[in-house]
Amino acid sequence: MPEASQYDEIGELYEQVKDLPFGVSEWATVVSALPDLRDRTVLDVGCGTGAYTRMFRRAGARQVLGVDPAREMLAVARAAEEREPLGISYEPHDGITMPKLGDFDVVAAIWPLSHVGDRKSYDRMVANLAENLAPGGRLLVVVPNPDADSDRLDDYPRYGMTVTPGGYTGECVETLVRVHSEPPFEFSGFGWPSGVFEESCAAVGLTEVRRYPTVVPETDLAERGAEFWAVLLESSMFAVFTAQRPSPGE
Ligand SMILES: C[S@@+](CC[C@H](N)C(=O)[O-])C[C@H]1O[C@@H](n2cnc3c(N)ncnc32)[C@H](O)[C@@H]1O
Repeated sequence: MPEASQYDEIGELYEQVKDLPFGVSEWATVVSALPDLRDRTVLDVGCGTGAYTRMFRRAGARQVLGVDPAREMLAVARAAEEREPLGISYEPHDGITMPKLGDFDVVAAIWPLSHVGDRKSYDRMVANLAENLAPGGRLLVVVPNPDADSDRLDDYPRYGMTVTPGGYTGECVETLVRVHSEPPFEFSGFGWPSGVFEESCAAVGLTEVRRYPTVVPETDLAERGAEFWAVLLESSMFAVFTAQRPSPGE
């Protein structure tokens, strides 16, 4: 199945992800990596149903554009905008082929790189993300954790996700993900080895690539206890990175 079109079958179900334990931690880790968004412009590539897109606007961004190639995901995002207008625009674009849409202070790509299965397209998407950044702007991505300990995968279901690695396609491992929502849903993606994101950023002049430690909100830590969260904190299924587009003269 083509990578993005599998999300046409998921649509609204994806909204439940943010309430599952891995989603709660992913959200908190993304927030920890964001600059102050007040009065900034944000492009959200692979915005899906728009949960982060709405958060960016609520955090004070003055202009937010969400793009995604999956019709059904965008339909859910647009329906939320109709119900509660926040002034967010949504457009259908694929990160591999998208044009320059503007000079954004922040470009977010929360998971779309995990749906790219060949290096040329991966580098193309990173180049397009960079191209849409204003000088001094920040790229934020969420990707499958390239350093995840494969011996800990059996512990992931308690966080709301089962991850089953398949075979290698070139450099990357094709992986089946089952999300334990009600009802559950599945999608496949690709895990890229450590260092690929950094190399791809360097090739298009992005600097200061930084990985953020996985965090869990204090209330959730207290509610479920440190033992529950231990594996996620040590060997999470996701990794949050940022990179900078240098300002002129830097
Ligand atoms: C796991 S969902 C995450 C959605 C959203 N970023 C979030 O975290 O709530 C991955 C999204 O990436 C989108 N996607 C897949 N391939 C893509 C591509 N080539 N370019 C842009 N988005 C893509 C899918 O349609 C889907 O909406």
